[in-house]
Amino acid sequence: MKRHIQFLLIFSFLLLLAGACRKAPSAREVIHIESPGKELKLDFFTDNSARPVYLVRFGGDTVIRPSRLGFLFRDQPPLSASFVVESSEQNEVDEYWEMPWGEQRVVRNHYRELAVKLREAGGEKRHFTLRFRLYDDGLGFRYEFPQWPGIDSLVIMDENTEFRLAGNYRCWWQPGDWDIYEHLYHDTPFREIDALKYRHHPNLAQTYIPFNAVNTPVTMKTESGIYLSFHEAALSDYPGMTLRVYPDDLRMKSELVGSERYGWKASRKLPFHTPWRTLQLARRPGALIESKLILNLNEPAKYEVPWFKPMKYVGIWWEMHLGKSSWDLASGRHGATTRNAMRHIDFAAAHHIGGVLIEGWNTGWEHWIGFDDREGVFDFVTPYPDYDLKKVAAYAHRKGVQLIMHHETSSAPRTYEAQMDTAYALMRELGIHVVKTGYVGKIIPRGEYHHGQWMVRHYRKALLKAAGYEVAIDAHEPIKATGIRRSYPNFVSREGLRGQEFNAWAGDGGNPPEHLTIIPFTRMLAGPVDFTPGIFNLKLTPWKKENRVNTTLAHQLALYVIIYSPVQMAADLIENYEGHPAFRFIEDVATDWEESRVLQAEIGDYICMARRERNSENWFLGAITDENQRTLKIPLSFLAPGVKYEARVYRDGPGAHWDRKPGSYRIEELVLSAKDTLEAALAAGGGVAVSFFPQDQ
Ligand code: NOJ
Ligand code: CA
Repeated sequence: MKRHIQFLLIFSFLLLLAGACRKAPSAREVIHIESPGKELKLDFFTDNSARPVYLVRFGGDTVIRPSRLGFLFRDQPPLSASFVVESSEQNEVDEYWEMPWGEQRVVRNHYRELAVKLREAGGEKRHFTLRFRLYDDGLGFRYEFPQWPGIDSLVIMDENTEFRLAGNYRCWWQPGDWDIYEHLYHDTPFREIDALKYRHHPNLAQTYIPFNAVNTPVTMKTESGIYLSFHEAALSDYPGMTLRVYPDDLRMKSELVGSERYGWKASRKLPFHTPWRTLQLARRPGALIESKLILNLNEPAKYEVPWFKPMKYVGIWWEMHLGKSSWDLASGRHGATTRNAMRHIDFAAAHHIGGVLIEGWNTGWEHWIGFDDREGVFDFVTPYPDYDLKKVAAYAHRKGVQLIMHHETSSAPRTYEAQMDTAYALMRELGIHVVKTGYVGKIIPRGEYHHGQWMVRHYRKALLKAAGYEVAIDAHEPIKATGIRRSYPNFVSREGLRGQEFNAWAGDGGNPPEHLTIIPFTRMLAGPVDFTPGIFNLKLTPWKKENRVNTTLAHQLALYVIIYSPVQMAADLIENYEGHPAFRFIEDVATDWEESRVLQAEIGDYICMARRERNSENWFLGAITDENQRTLKIPLSFLAPGVKYEARVYRDGPGAHWDRKPGSYRIEELVLSAKDTLEAALAAGGGVAVSFFPQDQ
């Protein structure tokens, strides 16, 4: 297999079928394009009012009915009707590229493209291009605006991109929140989507749900068993897109996150193009995860990041969420002390854990939450007096451990921007290459939202500035991932979901057992997830009586294979790992992959994945189930043929159950090969994790 991939890589090629450039088709002529394997088909035409319309077929099924495209501007007539097709052009590209770090090494980018140039028949005769790219596993399209004579910029009041569904599809959705993605997913027919019901969710620090809309990725299943997921790719200098839902007419429409400070959705200088509006399509739910559509629709890397290496990390973190210690100094229970940091560094060095995250190290935490004016509160260079940053950094360096810096901005991005240079310069001086950023709270200035254009610009600014100082970013409360890690490979991970932390303090019982059987098919389609798995003390004793983690211990281990992130936390208190036999799996599991496969899955029920470590023949397997116990029979045919592997199997133990006995596990050592089938009995809320090391021949 490896040799095969290398072969493809060496002979990777760019195929440009010199685009059949055509003149304007006559009125209502349909322009037709198919994906390279012809599974996916798209028709483009203009309707009776000469409005641009597209429809999508997958196999024989129409999955998107004729749907309109258009824009509403502030100082311009709407861009919606009276168009003629000036020209259309098709071509095909087939190339391979390599991920510097990721779920796999080699990615094939194979698509057919249609560019339709449209012009208004009368009036201003404004023109723009619609570019469609059809892959066998989905499509993307975007609007491209050229320079219009006498017009410098556009104020966008609405983007009216429609997606008309061909049935009442089953949907896995979360409310279209302008401020946060930290919601549970709901599983309902399209007609029953009711985002406004979650408007006043009690657990979230910041939330704003103005319409019956959903966040993307939103994933669906048709009656004939086709899986769809809507999202966007290459979001740059533009608002994030939610999808407004019109349940009765089975229709969605782009609802961009707006700026209430300026009263618009976006403002852009001409020329510009929108992000890609994407639709993944598959007959197998696992194929949604294996697809690289979102990344392929982003541009190649603009720079390299040889200074970033994927790693696991522990941290001074969970102890604050449990209330064992605190971020601030004034409480008298400060977590980020020099001593505690050195204890974590010692642990990491002893257990092959690459990094240590230290939160609460800098001044300002006394005023970070619940304060209205957070401007100027945080300082990103001044440590608390009981934390000797330089000494800790030197100690980590001596021990071969990387520190992970923490910058909680408390959603005062202007304060952060003013300090970025000094903060990242300090990191460079100390040899720290990763920062976890945070954006808890309502954005200052008011009227801006986390997912609006103003913040998209801020997140990008941080990313580019950080790159200049050899710093990679893991953002919490981020803008969603849209594959920009391909172009800007120092955007290594993000939160952007209900992470493990909710289990420590949410008043609604925490994440249900099925949570992580949905996340891989929704949030994870966007990109790497800093979920922070690995809690062994699942009942959180003695710290939290009212809270708990609703999975078994083996389920927590399996997450290291299922939930992809190049920075992967071992989130529990390190004392809960000391001497624990199951910690061996976390020590062993890789964080950078040669290839990844979804072996078996059904959204919201269970998922089983296998990944091969990069530059190695070691494989790791993880499977998890929801609140239902089930037995999986897993053929190991992904292993190299003819090789015997030492397999260490971490299973749910006797009586294991997410509620009654979450900590019950057992470890089995076996010799297995590609011809074997592993039978895994998963407890309710349970899982299985397996490491495979080739035997010395
Ligand atoms: C929320 C983040 O998700 C969490 O990981 C972090 O500990 C707190 N904010 C404090 O920054
Ligand atoms: Ca968070």
